[in-house]
Amino acid sequence: MTDAELYERAVAVAERAYAPYSRFHVGAAVLARDGSVIEGVNVENAAYPLGICAERAALARAVAEGYRPGDLEAIGITASPCGGCRQWLVEFGLDRLTYARGSGEVVTRTPAELLPDSFQL
Ligand code: THU
Repeated sequence: MTDAELYERAVAVAERAYAPYSRFHVGAAVLARDGSVIEGVNVENAAYPLGICAERAALARAVAEGYRPGDLEAIGITASPCGGCRQWLVEFGLDRLTYARGSGEVVTRTPAELLPDSFQL
């Protein structure tokens, strides 16, 4: 699967986001090294800080399916990942992130480009 195809999967799944408060739907699609695709959407809550971003929802779902850091190759995201999600994306060791910048331009970057000198425990 190409990065463009992965990004299109993210666009398609964004329709299923649960975002009644912001009305900002985000979709994410993770490509595992075994070829599987795991999707996620943002899920909001009336207690606003409890909402979860699409990228982290997809990564959490991948973990529940048995994937671990290093097992995931790439991700497509319909928004520019927030700071907290960047830390998650670094931890999972993805090779490439393809996402829509605020301008709408779709770009591919490495996690290190988005979060240099990241915290490692
Ligand atoms: N959001 C994501 O799902 N991913 C990001 O990286 C940026 C923000 C969601 C969170 C919230 O539901 C909505 O976008 C507006 O902030």
